[in-house]
Amino acid sequence: MRERMASLIQPPVEAFGKRAVILDGTLGAGGHTEYFLTTFPDAMVVGLDRDEHSLAAARKRLAPFGDRFLGLYCRFDQFEGPLADAASREVAPAAAAVAHGFAGALFDLGVSSMQLDQVERGFAYRVDAPLDMRMDDSSGITAADILNTYSHGELARILKNYGDERFAGKIASAIVREREKEPFSTSGRLVELLYATIPAASRRSGGHPAKRTFQALRVEVNRELEAIENVIPKVLEHLAPGGRAVFMSYQSLEDKIVKREFREATTSKTPPGLPMDLPEYAAKFRLITRGAEKATEAEIAENPRSAPVRVRAIEAIGDQSEN
Ligand SMILES: C[S@@+](CC[C@H](N)C(=O)[O-])C[C@H]1O[C@@H](n2cnc3c(N)ncnc32)[C@H](O)[C@@H]1O
Repeated sequence: MRERMASLIQPPVEAFGKRAVILDGTLGAGGHTEYFLTTFPDAMVVGLDRDEHSLAAARKRLAPFGDRFLGLYCRFDQFEGPLADAASREVAPAAAAVAHGFAGALFDLGVSSMQLDQVERGFAYRVDAPLDMRMDDSSGITAADILNTYSHGELARILKNYGDERFAGKIASAIVREREKEPFSTSGRLVELLYATIPAASRRSGGHPAKRTFQALRVEVNRELEAIENVIPKVLEHLAPGGRAVFMSYQSLEDKIVKREFREATTSKTPPGLPMDLPEYAAKFRLITRGAEKATEAEIAENPRSAPVRVRAIEAIGDQSEN
């Protein structure tokens, strides 16, 4: 889907020429950034990741692009401080972003294939591994901490809300019972418990019994939805006139937030009842995608991970010559 992402941000990135800075909010292995730096030879990229292992690998991969790339280690909704700091040291991509705003921004949400493949990180449920699941493994609570300390009600709530798990209450009761015997530490025991708790009949239609519980734990460990809610207004504020932001969501909860925030940003604030739209209340953004775009069959065949993706893009209304 790299070409599609590049084509969504292409108009402002090309119009801005050497002043164009793209924000890659979810740098990961740096695949999208590498594609952007190659496709737009005048543009610079600021890449963010809260996983310092991913960031180190991406920095190495992107080293051939020299000063055109800047990697920052932070949660994506906390980019403003590190960006301002780098700008004050006159690091080119940060200084240009602070001076002119971003021409493009991309958020490819969730975990990377690299993180899923690192067994010891505990994201995958098909292998017995420590129940960690932190994208930033230098701080914060782990999935095991949640299983061992949250109340029955809290466990049931996250399983239901973040995993859409029908058997949330039943699973929460089993977790509370099991942890009294011995605290949870690795995924194998949790997967066993889920096999024993989720009725066999619903297993046939609902996919792997651990899928929804693992998703819910990951969302809670990393406060993923809170970060998305926080970052949208911030990134919109930092878009240059004509700049575009694109979000790739893989779960309906993520996409719901993006849809809601984009609707809010593209709606006029003119008080109801007035006969016309007042310019000072007019929306400052417009939608670029109609509804949510999905991956094509060819893309899904090439990369099965793209099957659930929903893409939404928004543009800051304004004259690009203002920059
Ligand atoms: C799906 S991968 C991105 C893959 C990337 N587009 C590529 O082409 O290689 C998502 C990455 O974003 C990071 N990430 C997810 N949520 C984040 C957040 N709230 N703040 C910072 N980084 C985040 C993850 O650590 C992961 O490395």
